[in-house]
Amino acid sequence: MSYQERGILVSMLIFFLFFRFCTSIDTITLTRPVKDGDILVSNGESFALGFFSPANSSNRYVGIWYNKVSEQTVVWVANRDTPITNSSGILSVDKTGNLVLHEKGQSFVFWTTNVSGVVANDVFSAQLLDSGNLVLFQGEVYSWQSFDHPSNTLLPGMKLGLDRKAGLNRVVTSWKSSWNPGVGDYSYKMEFVGSTQLFLYKGNMTRIWRAGSWTGRGWSGVPGMTKDYIFNTSNYINNADEVVVFFLMLNSSIFSRLVVTESGTVDRLTWHEADRKWIGFWSHPKDQCDGYNHCGPFGFCDPYKSVTFECDCLPGYEPQSLQDWYIRDGSKGCKRKVGTQMCQVGDGFVELAHVMVPDTSTARVNMSLGLKACEELCLRDCTCMGYASADISKAAWDGGCITWLGDMIDTKTFSDGGQTFYVRVEAAELGTSYALLILIFIFSKLNFSF
Ligand SMILES: *[C@@H]1O[C@H](CO)[C@@H](O)[C@H](O)[C@H]1NC(C)=O
Ligand SMILES: *[C@@H]1O[C@H](CO)[C@@H](O)[C@H](O)[C@H]1NC(C)=O
Ligand SMILES: *[C@@H]1O[C@H](CO)[C@@H](O)[C@H](O)[C@H]1NC(C)=O
Ligand SMILES: *[C@@H]1O[C@H](CO)[C@@H](O)[C@H](O)[C@H]1NC(C)=O
Ligand SMILES: *[C@@H]1O[C@H](CO)[C@@H](O)[C@H](O)[C@H]1NC(C)=O
Ligand SMILES: *[C@@H]1O[C@H](CO)[C@@H](O)[C@H](O)[C@H]1NC(C)=O
Ligand SMILES: *[C@@H]1O[C@H](CO)[C@@H](O)[C@H](O)[C@H]1NC(C)=O
Repeated sequence: MSYQERGILVSMLIFFLFFRFCTSIDTITLTRPVKDGDILVSNGESFALGFFSPANSSNRYVGIWYNKVSEQTVVWVANRDTPITNSSGILSVDKTGNLVLHEKGQSFVFWTTNVSGVVANDVFSAQLLDSGNLVLFQGEVYSWQSFDHPSNTLLPGMKLGLDRKAGLNRVVTSWKSSWNPGVGDYSYKMEFVGSTQLFLYKGNMTRIWRAGSWTGRGWSGVPGMTKDYIFNTSNYINNADEVVVFFLMLNSSIFSRLVVTESGTVDRLTWHEADRKWIGFWSHPKDQCDGYNHCGPFGFCDPYKSVTFECDCLPGYEPQSLQDWYIRDGSKGCKRKVGTQMCQVGDGFVELAHVMVPDTSTARVNMSLGLKACEELCLRDCTCMGYASADISKAAWDGGCITWLGDMIDTKTFSDGGQTFYVRVEAAELGTSYALLILIFIFSKLNFSF
């Protein structure tokens, strides 16, 4: 070996050692499992994976947390409902190509990815990506990823909603409590009846809050989502493969996460390094009007109506029960005003501004109709109670048509933002407002001086 060759060899060795020393391991393989105490760190050092115990608990869970955030913030948990009670846990990739969690020397499986379709002689591995996604590979293709199985947190790039091909609806669910990451009561999920909407549920039956339908620039119930938001608000996809929403930070050095809390709120939080704490960006439900169906069918909620009752009836409707209204219980909602003759000649619409449109479960959507055609469609159908534009993303064009064919529930108004909503009323109802307008007009022209 020449002097030169030896030089090259030595520098290669130094490079290799240096590389080994500096590069953290981000991969689990057949021969390299993760034992309790080991930590995987993603390539860009953004996320870490290992065993942890929540505060006030001695149970051991496999989780993923931010590597660069000083307050340990767990964003994903594998064995949510099956903790290990001592430090003998091992997470490994097995011969069937699955991630499995068990105790040293024991066969009981605490948690597994449980994917089938193994190709013999494939090389299996799992890698923690810098996005915080733990991905299981069969050779070159991925067979499972943690992003498809959210815990209580939605990270940038994670999709919420339906993968049509896999039949997988990704739902974010709260922890049971701050010391128990088990699947809790609250879930944030997409539903596809009528037009796609996002809901916060308690249990499987009770809707707590409706983030609403996609308006083309955000969710109808989150009016703060504007163009200069901290993340790209145009990432809603509805095609043959999927109906999903995800967020991507415009400035990737800002840590932002959405979390469904065990107290039943959906919070968006941002890490402030200077104060070393998570700061609330927004949180829902935030007022009475956020409570799902707070003012009942055909009612609407106005949180800015100071002092008096926040519930009101849509134009053309009156309280179902005046007594309930008197004690400020709006839950039974409103009914058509007594004596109204709907679907006669001369029906029309009253415009409401800055509205979160009603629950679209009872609505129909046609994206190829404009607003004028939408009005005509609604007028032609006696069961149509109201309409609105389905896409308000472009200021110059109100595109798409939503028509409501049943109860209109969970409508509310904002001080700003929202959209215009058109409520069907009978001719007489329009008559009164026209008469009023004409009177005002006449008075202004006559220039009375009292
Ligand atoms: C842990 O327990 C202490 C004492 O009961 C309590 O003050 C604290 O809030 C708990 N921490 C969490 C995260 O639950
Ligand atoms: C951990 O607990 C299991 C039972 O839950 C037991 O079988 C095992 O021996 C324990 N391991 C250690 C190292 O204590
Ligand atoms: C794996 O999936 C199969 C089929 O869905 C199911 O029957 C089995 O219980 C699962 N095993 C585990 C350990 O979750
Ligand atoms: C809620 O969902 C769980 C799990 O899917 C199921 O076992 C339970 O029966 C459901 N409860 C109701 C009231 O539907
Ligand atoms: C937002 O996302 C859309 C669609 O993915 C993309 O075309 C656009 O460039 C993004 N905008 C920014 C500012 O990242
Ligand atoms: C991104 O955020 C970091 C940290 O808040 C800030 O220092 C930086 O100036 C931001 N970059 C841009 C392009 O806004
Ligand atoms: C939408 O409206 C157009 C024009 O009236 C019509 O041709 C089309 O069938 C409608 N689509 C649906 C899904 O109703």
